[in-house]
Amino acid sequence: MALKVLLVDPNEEWLQSASKFLIEQFYEIKKVNNGKDAQLALYNDKFFAVILNFDTKNHSGMQVLKFIRTNHPSQRVVMVLEGQEILDKGRTSEEKLKKMGATEIAVKPFEIEHLKDLLEGHQSLGDVMSNIKRREGQSDEVEVDTPDEEFTKVRIDDFYSAKAVLFDVYIQLRSNRYIKILHSGDTFSKERIDKYKNEKNVENLYFHNSDRRKFVQYHNQLAAKLIASKQIPASVKVKMVKNVADKYIQEAFHQGMKPQVVEQGKEVCANIFNLVEKEKDLYKVLKSYEELDPSAFTHAFLVSLFSTAIIKQFDWQSRTTIEATAMACLFHDIGKVKLPKELLNKQVKDMNDEELELYKTHPELGVEIIEGNRLINNSVKQIILQHHEAFDGTGFPYGKRGSKILTLANIVCLADDFVHIMVDDKLDPPAALRKMLMNQEQVSRYNSMIVENFIKVFVDPEKIVKESSLPSNSRVVNKKVS
Ligand SMILES: [Fe+2]
Ligand SMILES: [Fe+2]
Repeated sequence: MALKVLLVDPNEEWLQSASKFLIEQFYEIKKVNNGKDAQLALYNDKFFAVILNFDTKNHSGMQVLKFIRTNHPSQRVVMVLEGQEILDKGRTSEEKLKKMGATEIAVKPFEIEHLKDLLEGHQSLGDVMSNIKRREGQSDEVEVDTPDEEFTKVRIDDFYSAKAVLFDVYIQLRSNRYIKILHSGDTFSKERIDKYKNEKNVENLYFHNSDRRKFVQYHNQLAAKLIASKQIPASVKVKMVKNVADKYIQEAFHQGMKPQVVEQGKEVCANIFNLVEKEKDLYKVLKSYEELDPSAFTHAFLVSLFSTAIIKQFDWQSRTTIEATAMACLFHDIGKVKLPKELLNKQVKDMNDEELELYKTHPELGVEIIEGNRLINNSVKQIILQHHEAFDGTGFPYGKRGSKILTLANIVCLADDFVHIMVDDKLDPPAALRKMLMNQEQVSRYNSMIVENFIKVFVDPEKIVKESSLPSNSRVVNKKVS
């Protein structure tokens, strides 16, 4: 379902070109040239955003803005000014417009493409920081009654903060009762967090679901810095990216595939790429159970990590293929949200025929969910559709075989199976690898080049190893992997 945008502008020509561009970006557009029709549209329909010209007539732009503030206070509004002189001559001010509820302000002339950024709220961290009201020092702790489902949990050791606290941080007292220990805008207090951690053995912090996007944004930027640092151990980097990806997946499943969610996903995948590309010690983490306890990782992130690590071994690998596959992996099972919960609680081997048929529809259901989303490219959709197709033709939904299957999808299929073996059988990665390779039927599910490159994932890329210690049927002659 496309997101609806209401365009309000007296200039027909501008309405036409803005509308054309936004339709190309998959938005659904309602365009009107006066304030009265704008209010009528807002009365009858719900919009993802309103792009409103300040100089709208027959109910002025300000009147419409006031109408929105009163009736739809959380509506995203991009206020468009005909020219800088509106501000210079004091007809209004940015402060006044923001106070009246404008989310963004854009001054003409600007490139029509800029509308995309304005709509998707593609803020840099600098923007986020400058928007919070900062106070020196710390506010008092406050107890609140809030339902548990409104909070996102994060392990206390996985929480990092900027100098100013970006959002309210809580600890849980008991079910539905929390203490706000850090307030948005306050100077960050490590002492306060340590007090709960060390004296009261608190293990988790909480923040509002509405701040999850900020959490992902801040931690993702931090992850990018950590990945670039040579001093930080690979395990810390992986944990950081995992933490970001987990919260991102929660956000995406909660919010749906909105443009800003997809954009944020691309940033998360850029970090998965950086991690896989730059971290020489990644292989150590991937084969260590202590550092890669599967039960502590979400399925989608593990599949993403192993799939991209495999692609890295191929000569044809590129940033684009790695990032697209990472994205596909984060959402490969999204179609399952359309299946009954009882079915998903069962393991595949325990399903009856009818249940199995239903389960096998999840790749197609996943593509249905993201189909109309032009921000997600076609190869991502194809990977999701084919992630259960097997090289020997035994997969589903189409039973494709051999070269008919996208190589990237076959890589995800292997990573997905491997993660299942690790988690279901509680095996460490080397043991899961051995189990997988000993099973000929299993191995025939994948292109042999993929299997070969999968094994290299666990080998130090700096070393030329003559013979692997793996079972003979899977022995690879390792050449130097770049
Ligand atoms: Fe799946
Ligand atoms: Fe899966």
